[in-house]
Amino acid sequence: MTRDAVAAADTARVPTVIVDDVHIVYKVHGASAGKGSATSALSRLIARKRSPAITEVHAVRGISFTAYKGEAVGLIGSNGSGKSTMLAAIAGLLPTEKGGIYTNGQPSLLGVNAALMNELTGERNVVLGCLAMGMTPAEVRARYQEIVDFSGINDKGEFINLPMRTYSSGMSARLRFSIAAAKTHDVLLIDEALATGDQAFQKRSEDRIRELRQEAGTVFLVSHNNNSIRDTCERTIWIETGEMIMDGPTEEVVRAYEKGERP
Ligand SMILES: Nc1ncnc2c1ncn2[C@@H]1O[C@H](COP(=O)(O)OP(=O)(O)OP(=O)(O)O)[C@@H](O)[C@H]1O
Ligand SMILES: [Mg+2]
Repeated sequence: MTRDAVAAADTARVPTVIVDDVHIVYKVHGASAGKGSATSALSRLIARKRSPAITEVHAVRGISFTAYKGEAVGLIGSNGSGKSTMLAAIAGLLPTEKGGIYTNGQPSLLGVNAALMNELTGERNVVLGCLAMGMTPAEVRARYQEIVDFSGINDKGEFINLPMRTYSSGMSARLRFSIAAAKTHDVLLIDEALATGDQAFQKRSEDRIRELRQEAGTVFLVSHNNNSIRDTCERTIWIETGEMIMDGPTEEVVRAYEKGERP
């Protein structure tokens, strides 16, 4: 590359998410400050005392990083390390105790609990989900069939006309992903949504994530499946007990994580 080309590539790096020394503390109301032994539980029951104590869980402790347009960033770490908390905070669903999160564009969290309605049919959920993401009714009509086809919900019968409560957990996860993936997102946050799909669907959704990246968004992927992190993300952040352990090229970080080798 010439020097001009390097300069141009540099200015093309647009930050989409800036996380600056963020701390997140959950406050659990009514949690008992007692020892948790059987006798203390029993005496609490007998006394019928409500403990007014608030227990604090310091889930994220001083994490900082910047993500850029066109990047797919993996988030890895053991159970309870703070990955989902970090995503929810980027989505604007959790307040920070200290530090700041700045996003360029609207982040959308595609989680295992994304709001679809169990009593409604898959079809109604597709329409409502698309409207909720800001599509016009005409856009919804234009994209509807594509979403249903991508989800593969109808591969085994006319399930799209049945209420979502009749779906297996993998089927609902697939529909949820297909709805969210129908729109190009500025910042797409995915929390293990791929884990429940079968292999063919996982492959299809990984391809779609790559497309979403090219359509200029930024993607964050939380997963315990290191291969889907490897296939999807070129950069990975490893966190443990709310602190950043590593941030770098996926292969380097995932290999260190697998070996349990902290730098
Ligand atoms: N709603 C909540 N109230 C209080 N504490 C919480 C809440 N949600 C999570 N925590 C705590 O915050 C810490 C981080 O949890 P988080 O769900 O972010 O972990 P995770 O990395 O996503 O784990 P996993 O891999 O199991 O999904 C844990 O100690 C957890 O107990
Ligand atoms: Mg989680």
